[in-house]
Amino acid sequence: MPTEQTIRVEPTVESTTIDLPKELGFGRYFSDRMFSQSYLSGHGWRDARIGPYSPITLDPATTVYHNGQMIFEGTKAYRRADGDINLFRPELNMERFNLSADRMGMPNIDSDFHLRAIEDLVRLEHRWVPSQEGTALYIRPVMIATEKSLEVRSSREYRHFIILSPVAPYFASGFGPVSVYVSHDFVRSVRGGTGEAKTPGNYAGSIAATEIAVNKGYQQVLWLDGVEGKYVDEVGAMNIAFVFNSTEIVTPKLNGAILEGVTRRSLLELAPRLGYSIIERPITIHEVLDGIRDGSVDEIFGMGTGAVIAPVGRLSYKDQEIIVRDGEPGPVAEKLYKSLTAIQYGLVADPFGWTRRIKLPLSDRESKNMTAAV
Ligand SMILES: Cc1ncc(COP(=O)(O)O)c(C=O)c1O
Repeated sequence: MPTEQTIRVEPTVESTTIDLPKELGFGRYFSDRMFSQSYLSGHGWRDARIGPYSPITLDPATTVYHNGQMIFEGTKAYRRADGDINLFRPELNMERFNLSADRMGMPNIDSDFHLRAIEDLVRLEHRWVPSQEGTALYIRPVMIATEKSLEVRSSREYRHFIILSPVAPYFASGFGPVSVYVSHDFVRSVRGGTGEAKTPGNYAGSIAATEIAVNKGYQQVLWLDGVEGKYVDEVGAMNIAFVFNSTEIVTPKLNGAILEGVTRRSLLELAPRLGYSIIERPITIHEVLDGIRDGSVDEIFGMGTGAVIAPVGRLSYKDQEIIVRDGEPGPVAEKLYKSLTAIQYGLVADPFGWTRRIKLPLSDRESKNMTAAV
């Protein structure tokens, strides 16, 4: 699809004031507008438009309701101190969206066009980018199969849409430590499965295990590999890292079942600059448990767009509880968190060229944003 394709902007009644509670939570509120376009096999993508945020009505026989052919992404727009807005490596999300589409037998979207759709939408909705510490405007691109059919095959019709949600950090505890429960009965994905793709089935399949964890008093599930049940894959919907002897960071090597995170990839590049060595290798749960016990593993943290970095304070394996670092966040996680968020919010120069700035006219930069953000 040519990137010159136009995006029609439809009249939208804007909220006069954006009056949200101080506790934004994650993904509870949505901006006034959304982007959408449709796909028809043989014709490609068409009818790209930004219009009012509104419900999508589909026939009950629509294929997404039956075979779940659907993918999504998640990235954020950050309010800079000067009032402009930063996107953080969104091109990697556009790339991953197409990898997910390939895995699910869905059409690709031109990455430049996809990015333009996001930038146009965020620019129009700039008032919804909060400025309170740790907050951001979460950007959620989605593609669903919309053909009316119960056959299990690739749909001939799709809808692509993008919605925006002002959010607080994913965990209410902010940078505080999370507790994790190692799942040994359920797995998230297996090599050759869909774990590498951002598709809802992976998340639906994780909910029962998460409920078990929550009922036992833990916030997240730590997932082991689906074959031997001994290698660590991910934690909740985040990649995971272990700090050995305060200097060496180990993160599981991508194995076909792990989702390759933008945050993980960024920390692989950032950590060496901060004086840490970081390596990707398989790591077993037993190496982790032994390391916590003998003191060589001194920090564990999750990495993802929602929480950025989530230190792990408590871990349960086969009903045995182990406390990591007295349950407090460690200095390595804290340094990485501060350094990465400083780049995302434009508080320091971006030596990697990771941020994409959306410049606003001076009048818009100074205009009142969300009241929750003040
Ligand atoms: C399963 C899973 N793993 C890891 C991540 C972290 O990826 P990112 O850093 O791109 O948000 C996510 C979030 O998108 C995820 O859903």
